[in-house]
Amino acid sequence: MPNPTADTVKKWYNQHYAAKGLQTMRPAAAYPVFLDLLGASAGSRLLDVSCGAGSLLAAAHARGVESVGVDLSDEAVRLAKRVAPTAEVAVGAGEALAFPTGTFDYVTCLGSLEHFLDMGRGLEEMKRVAKPDARFCIMVPNEDFIGWKMLGHQGTAQQDINEHLLPLAAWRILFERHGFAVLRVVPDRWHAVRWRATRAGSPLRFVTGPVLEAAWRLIPLRWQYQFVFILGLARQSHAVPT
Ligand SMILES: C[S@@+](CC[C@H](N)C(=O)[O-])C[C@H]1O[C@@H](n2cnc3c(N)ncnc32)[C@H](O)[C@@H]1O
Repeated sequence: MPNPTADTVKKWYNQHYAAKGLQTMRPAAAYPVFLDLLGASAGSRLLDVSCGAGSLLAAAHARGVESVGVDLSDEAVRLAKRVAPTAEVAVGAGEALAFPTGTFDYVTCLGSLEHFLDMGRGLEEMKRVAKPDARFCIMVPNEDFIGWKMLGHQGTAQQDINEHLLPLAAWRILFERHGFAVLRVVPDRWHAVRWRATRAGSPLRFVTGPVLEAAWRLIPLRWQYQFVFILGLARQSHAVPT
């Protein structure tokens, strides 16, 4: 989309969620892994920036983590209030978060930063609202994904709207330039393991599923589909759960 504005991005996502509802999301089983990577524990406070339909908020609540979500799309927020009724959810832009400085133990942003009009401002805002020893989990797509190279196209299912793709090294540089320390980077393996979480479908998946899962493991990190970055704030020493 040429010269997108916050309004056109919002409208695009409102239409997307209105048309697809919860089918636009990965199922609930896809989200606890992000909390595991953060080592999120009960009694802490988590902000999910661009929370979409709220599945991470619901997973956090199930662990006793107080969860707060914000998303540009009113339709997403409407769904999130249904999916995660105990969470505090509001409409808002990631580039201008309406929270006080130093509020959250964890800040997450999954599959969304690449759609921000100003990624740097979004990162500065995530940093601002986080406590000094906070952990961040940010999932972003890989410009060098081998699947796109083989298929001869590039971009996620939401490439029609504003989407910035970067390779592994460039994402790392972007985070470090904004004052984050990269603690860990792992591939997003949901598409390889989702056969385990599916009950319906052909029994053949018990054959194709493990083959795909094993093949996915052989792909080097720099060619994977999306990266899950676990970050802390620079200037501190950190210990992260393995
Ligand atoms: C691919 S969806 C991901 C939703 C959710 N994080 C998940 O993992 O299911 C991208 C989300 O980013 C939101 N979004 C895009 N630009 C945004 C911005 N500047 N500020 C806040 N949310 C934004 C969209 O409304 C949409 O809900």
